[in-house]
Amino acid sequence: MPGRVILDTDTGVDDALAILLAMRSPELRIEAITGVCGNTPLEHCMRNIHITLDVLDAAPPPEVARGEDRPLVRELAFAGDIHGNDGLGDVTRLEDAKGARVYPDPVQRVSPVHAVDLILERIERYPDELILVAVGPLTNVARAIMRDADRMRRLREIIIMGGAFETGGNVSPVAEFNIHADPHAAQIVCDAGIPLVFVPLDATRQAFLDAKTIDRYAGKGGARAAFVRDCTARYVAFHRRNRGVNGCFLHDPLAVAVAVREDLVTTVPARVDVEIAGDLTTGMTVADLRSQRWGEPNARVCTALDVQAFTRLFEERVLA
Ligand code: RIB
Ligand code: CA
Repeated sequence: MPGRVILDTDTGVDDALAILLAMRSPELRIEAITGVCGNTPLEHCMRNIHITLDVLDAAPPPEVARGEDRPLVRELAFAGDIHGNDGLGDVTRLEDAKGARVYPDPVQRVSPVHAVDLILERIERYPDELILVAVGPLTNVARAIMRDADRMRRLREIIIMGGAFETGGNVSPVAEFNIHADPHAAQIVCDAGIPLVFVPLDATRQAFLDAKTIDRYAGKGGARAAFVRDCTARYVAFHRRNRGVNGCFLHDPLAVAVAVREDLVTTVPARVDVEIAGDLTTGMTVADLRSQRWGEPNARVCTALDVQAFTRLFEERVLA
């Protein structure tokens, strides 16, 4: 029986790769893909979700719902330098030899139901069964908890791409982007009493996709691999310039892979909280992975992964 999943995204480049992996994993039944502001404004995120689904030409496509267009408290802060002005590596500017858009604006099929309502409705339909994979800021998730915490506690678990525990941050020395973008939402999630699995930079920085691998598969002519090459070109250039690697980290796809095969990662139980007031440390995930002295665990934190197994899974399902 495939696991029922809602994928909450701020589609961005690695979110798009996560959508490809999720939709091509028979272990998962994607109930819905929801959009939230983060890497890019919400409307770009919604368009990017549809561009990605069009590449898959999935029939029937999953329900797509619009969520929150701003964080609970903090100001909006996008990641255009990493994900491009359109949030998808600027693929919307790509033209073929005849000057036609390679990725034209998609026909959008957005649910009339807000993402928060859709999440709560699906939990009622599938109590204790639904997994929420959150790969953007946790604004939609927090709004759902604020609306009906008891119902949200009927989620099987929330798998969160977010945080940095025993490694540096990526938007500050200590904070990871998704948590930093809406730290108030993240703390609400930490306090809600829902089973949580954090997939932090500690693990996702081991989930590396080499640019040569992308080119090798794209050279075989498949549309999906060509889309991966096209949408990651700018993302890889950022990593080459700023991270000194010729490829990119697959942050969001790893969170999806954990829903597919949790044995891919090693986890430790911990009490996780989020700094929301520090001038220098806002958005920091605060936990002691060495012991449980600092309180009853509220999460499991991924600290390592089976790199070979994850890379094989990603290549076979997304690139091949
Ligand atoms: O820090 C990485 C996370 O921030 C990923 O989800 C990426 O898409 C960005 O949202
Ligand atoms: Ca993301």
